[in-house]
Amino acid sequence: MSLLLNRNSFGNAADAGNVLSRDEAEELFNTWVLNPRLQLHMKQVAALMKSWAAEKENLNEADQWRWEMAGLLHDADWDQWPERHCKKIIEELENRNVDPEIIHAIASHGPLHFGVEPETKMDKMLFAFDELSGLIHAYSLMRPNGYEGMDLKGVKKRLKEKSFAANVSREDIDDACERANITLDDLIIFIIPKQATVTL
Ligand SMILES: [Fe+2]
Ligand SMILES: [Fe+2]
Repeated sequence: MSLLLNRNSFGNAADAGNVLSRDEAEELFNTWVLNPRLQLHMKQVAALMKSWAAEKENLNEADQWRWEMAGLLHDADWDQWPERHCKKIIEELENRNVDPEIIHAIASHGPLHFGVEPETKMDKMLFAFDELSGLIHAYSLMRPNGYEGMDLKGVKKRLKEKSFAANVSREDIDDACERANITLDDLIIFIIPKQATVTL
């Protein structure tokens, strides 16, 4: 089964800056994503994107929401339409005249799967957060106190164990850090405390 999108241009330049309202985005999220584990993953990535936009890119609130929205909806079609993953949510956002940068970020969140390269900083951070967020969450679930006291060393140890969260591609993580021009350590240190606060 191929998830390749076979195109590189998404949305309409005239729609730059268009977003869904938070209510609209949440409605789509709640109707499309029924699996609580996936919901939590998407909310975690959304929180990371928003925090990064605010703290590292110094973006205003409108732009923070654009980043957050990309995170919140990036896997929206995975639950009910896995064979159309990425394609369906992209088409939905195109039909709703959403900002092409948000659509491109979602389209490039798995370059190997969808055949779209992360280009902008938003693209690159979404790609970087996606897999690492999942591995760190898996680690929290096996710790007696969850995120409490979790540190860089522990996460790096899990990363080295190939059998731990084996579906998380270590190569993708390294590749994503390189593309985003951030060290793996800095990324892990950024994620742990942010992700610790996210609940359904
Ligand atoms: Fe995905
Ligand atoms: Fe994801």
